[in-house]
Amino acid sequence: MHAPWTRRTLLLAGVLLGALQTGACGRAPSTLQPRGPGAQRIATLWWFMFGVSAAVVLLVAALILFAVVRRTRRGGPSEEPRWAHGLIFGGGVLFPIIVLTVLWVWTLRDIAALSQPAGSGAITIDVIGHQWWWEVRYPQQGIVTANDIHVPVGQGVEVRLTTDDVLHSFWVPQLTGKTDMIAGRTNRMTIQADHPGVYRGQCAEFCGLQHAQMIFYVVAQTPADYQAWVAREAAPPTAPTDPTALAGRQVFENSPCAACHTIRGTSARGTLGPDLSDFGGRLSIGAGAVPNTRANLGGWVVDSQSIKPGNLMPPIQLDPAQLQYLIGYLESLR
Ligand code: CUA
Repeated sequence: MHAPWTRRTLLLAGVLLGALQTGACGRAPSTLQPRGPGAQRIATLWWFMFGVSAAVVLLVAALILFAVVRRTRRGGPSEEPRWAHGLIFGGGVLFPIIVLTVLWVWTLRDIAALSQPAGSGAITIDVIGHQWWWEVRYPQQGIVTANDIHVPVGQGVEVRLTTDDVLHSFWVPQLTGKTDMIAGRTNRMTIQADHPGVYRGQCAEFCGLQHAQMIFYVVAQTPADYQAWVAREAAPPTAPTDPTALAGRQVFENSPCAACHTIRGTSARGTLGPDLSDFGGRLSIGAGAVPNTRANLGGWVVDSQSIKPGNLMPPIQLDPAQLQYLIGYLESLR
C-alpha cells in the first residue's frame, strides 16, 4: 500500500515533468530560448542565478548529510569542533553577502542595459492596449494595424506603450522583459530580434476576463521583407476588382461592422475595434484567439462571443451569401 504522500509526490513529479516537457517542445515561448539581445541578457542572468542556487542547495544538503553521519557515528551530541563558528560566519554571513552583491550588481547592470533607448534613427512603434487587443501604429510611416507587429531583424526598435482602458503589460518572452502599459503615461522599451521568425507576445498584467487571450505576434523580417511590408501598408488603398470582394465591401459598409472598424479607402471609419485595412495578412483573429482562416472568420463574425466571451463585438446577423462575400473581402485585404 502506498502512503498518501507517496502518491502526492508521484503526482507532483508528473506535473513537473509535464511542465518541463512543454517548455522543451518550444510551443510556449520561453525566456530561456532568447532570440534577441534583451532576452539573451535575461537568460544569461537566469542561468547564473540557477547555477548559484543549485550549488547552494547541493552544498547545504551535503553539510546536513555530513552532520547526520558524524552524529550517528559518534552516537550522540559531541563537543563543538573549533571550526564551527568560522563555518557559520563564513557560510551564513560572508558567502551570502558576496553572492547577493554579485547578483545585485549584475542585475543593476542589466536593468540599465535593457532600458537603453533604441537611438535617434530607430523605427518607432506605438502600441496601445485595449480590452483585449493591441492597437499598433507606425507614426513615421503612417501605418495603423493591430495584433501583429512587424519589425526588421538586427536593429533595435523603439516601442512606446500606453493603454486606452485598464492596465496591461507588453511581453515578448523571447525578445525582452515586460513593460507595463499605464493610462495617461507612455512607457518606452527597445525590442530587437536577431533572427527572422514569429515571436508570440502576451499581456502580462491581469486585465479582465480575456487577459489570457490578449495575445500578439512580433513578425521579425529581413530588412528587405520588412521594407516590402511597409511599402504595401503605406500604399494608397485600392478598390477590389473582384466582383464578390466588391459585394463584400458593400456588406461591410452597410452592416454594423463599419460603426466600430476602419478600413482605409472605404466609408468605414469606426474606432472602437481594430483597424482592419490589412486584415487578410494577419496571423490571428481576436488577438490570438484563433488562427486567421475563412472558417474561423465566419464563426467570429456570426458569434464572436462563443470564441472570446466578453469581447465588445456583438453578433452580426447576415444571410449566408452576404457572409461569404464579407469573408472573401476581409481575407483579400493585405
Ligand atoms: Cu491585457 Cu492582460
